[in-house]
Amino acid sequence: MIEQLQQLFGAEVRVSPLTTDDRMGRRVEGLDLSRKLTGTQAEMLIELVDRFQIVTFPSQDQHDFVVTHLERIANHFGAPIAHPNNYSNYGNRHVTPSLQPVERRTSTLVREAFPDSIKCMDGADSPAVYIVTNVPGGGRDKVELSAGGQHWHTDIEFEPVPLSTSMFYVQQVPRTRNSSLGTWVTNPPREPGFYHPDSSQELAKLREALPLNGETAYADTAAAYASLAETEQCELDTIMVRRRFRKSDDGWLIPLVRVNPRTGMKSLHSPVWASRGRRIAPAEIEGMSAEASRHFFDRLEAHCLQPQFRYDHVHTPGDVTIWSNFSTLHTAPPHKKVINDPKDARLMYRISCKGPPSYELPRHDDTDWLAANITAGYRSSLST
Ligand SMILES: [Fe+2]
Repeated sequence: MIEQLQQLFGAEVRVSPLTTDDRMGRRVEGLDLSRKLTGTQAEMLIELVDRFQIVTFPSQDQHDFVVTHLERIANHFGAPIAHPNNYSNYGNRHVTPSLQPVERRTSTLVREAFPDSIKCMDGADSPAVYIVTNVPGGGRDKVELSAGGQHWHTDIEFEPVPLSTSMFYVQQVPRTRNSSLGTWVTNPPREPGFYHPDSSQELAKLREALPLNGETAYADTAAAYASLAETEQCELDTIMVRRRFRKSDDGWLIPLVRVNPRTGMKSLHSPVWASRGRRIAPAEIEGMSAEASRHFFDRLEAHCLQPQFRYDHVHTPGDVTIWSNFSTLHTAPPHKKVINDPKDARLMYRISCKGPPSYELPRHDDTDWLAANITAGYRSSLST
């Protein structure tokens, strides 16, 4: 693999494991992602993510990397989705989606918080970009507020065609740490209903082992599947999950075990829906009651969150990090959600995509498919 990468991208490319040799995650250094990729180069990067679930490319800030470059890379992995947060009326099925007005865009709110020191990069206002940040609402005269860590999840899993791949570009991560526990801030007590009260103590412990300051924790659901006995794998292979966004939706059926069409690798596709609190309707196993489904999902979640399948990624400014949504779960740490010091800023750009990869650009996604699966039928313009 290293020989192939060096042939395609140059002799200075280096690859190292993010965990151990036989586990998920690779760091690829010496590669400039601000350049357009050839079809063969794009195929190689897609193969890397297929094999290793998470691949990080550090120091892209040395190449004048901007968010527009990230959107171009995303187009190779799938059709970038227009993120719901960029629309003022997402979720209302009866009206045409409209983009947030300029004064409510995240980039505007970032600039207003610390006008002398923090602003978003070029390309941040694209409908495809979800700005992951705690800067809006902050300012030097503001009182700090904290927010708890997240559920384990995969992003936007409630749509009939789920996201295949997500990627971050990291502009800034918090530089201060206030908690003696190693997290950025101490996790505040969970509000009632955050998790189902009947989940086991063992699962509660695994869920609450939240990642450290500024990190994203990942669980490798391909390795979790591979570790099961063959008889159990065969049982899981036949299971269909009904997912829905609202309790009133009919939902749709999707296999619990996802088979990567390029590699044949199997993974558990986000088996945690039953635990996602009140905001999104719980998933159910086809043919099982809601109660039995919850127990089933809880057992799988406890299996996936074991330390041997977990990797906590430390974000560094300049990183591009790409991961498969089909074969990982992730969660985020407790953090300050209102800041009064720019050193506490978390500012990252996420783009997610769905559908098949395209080694050559531009993509040729069918307009009807885009209209059915992507908010406002969004398609990237690729001028950079
Ligand atoms: Fe997420």
